[in-house]
Amino acid sequence: MIDISMTEFLALPESEKVKYINGYAILCAQQFDRAQLDCYCRLADACRRLHRDPAGAELMSGLLPHRVALNFFIQPSSRTFLSFNTAQAFLGMSRMSVRDEKISSISKGESLADSVRTFISYVDLVVMRHHDADAGAVAFWTAMKAHRRLTINGKERPIPIISGGSGARQHPTQALLDIYTLEKSFARVGGIDGKKIMLVGDLKRGRTVRSLSYLMKNYRDVQLYFAAPERYQMKEDILEFLDAHKIPYHKLNSIREGIGNVDAIYMTRIQDEWDKREGDSGHEKAGDDFIFKTEFLKLMKDECYLLHPLPKRDEIEEEVDYVDDHRVVYWRQERNGMWMRVAIIAELFGVDTQILAAAQKVPG
Ligand code: CP
Repeated sequence: MIDISMTEFLALPESEKVKYINGYAILCAQQFDRAQLDCYCRLADACRRLHRDPAGAELMSGLLPHRVALNFFIQPSSRTFLSFNTAQAFLGMSRMSVRDEKISSISKGESLADSVRTFISYVDLVVMRHHDADAGAVAFWTAMKAHRRLTINGKERPIPIISGGSGARQHPTQALLDIYTLEKSFARVGGIDGKKIMLVGDLKRGRTVRSLSYLMKNYRDVQLYFAAPERYQMKEDILEFLDAHKIPYHKLNSIREGIGNVDAIYMTRIQDEWDKREGDSGHEKAGDDFIFKTEFLKLMKDECYLLHPLPKRDEIEEEVDYVDDHRVVYWRQERNGMWMRVAIIAELFGVDTQILAAAQKVPG
């Protein structure tokens, strides 16, 4: 199924790796096309609708009771870890977790590949968050080479691997839930096509904004605005990708410069965990030009939406959390993530058609 060594696979650019992934894993945003993104959004809506109905929730929990998921999160996480856990519970899966490498055999010197090979002896799905940007690719290659296979809708498949965030490079399922949130927000104004989206904060080390930028290749006439201090501006590899796909982008020196012009503002925090040393305390503060202030709500268009992958710190004024304004969507975005993750797992395990069919029968 994979005829190259792990070293050769890891050396491939992501654009080449996607040719091997072929629906077996979720590792990077470049693997998705527009049809898949639209399907995921429809399926997430169907999951939400079906689960609202008690009989639908029961049906859903009977879809994967024979499957076991491992959530292998050895980097901190609240919402990705919990939303995957909840999504798995909704689908009736049994769940296990490894959250601390110090109490796993990794601390005895076991390689990541050996650890993954061990995990997939016991479980049917591995969702993983790891500090190494290549960890998902190592796990995928290992799953492809291992003997154990699942039979899903009559076809033999390797144990699926889902990246829940790999190093500072990618966070593909976050990007999928961001797309879902944008599509829902723009439902009355033609969806994401033609929109101007401003990404704010630490764009250099933010894996969410990187993955989201990759997904923009799937939408027509989108423009990106990067509002960041120079030291945290978007990296060259993403700019080259945008150039290659003819997606216009503009660098800004403050939120104020773009606020009246854009259709979505995607805030991020400073990712100082990447340059912290043991014993460092405190966090770098966001620069004043990159803090979303309550008064900015008056400057935004009526159909401009405020997103954040969360967790946040000081980059959004606290008062914004509690304003009654339909354009502040980051708390809804968080819950959208849970439905998107139900959809992702349902699609990987081939129970998506059952969900879509059953959701159609739910009234309302
Ligand atoms: N957005 C996100 O990945 O949040 P967590 O780090 O809490 O999982």
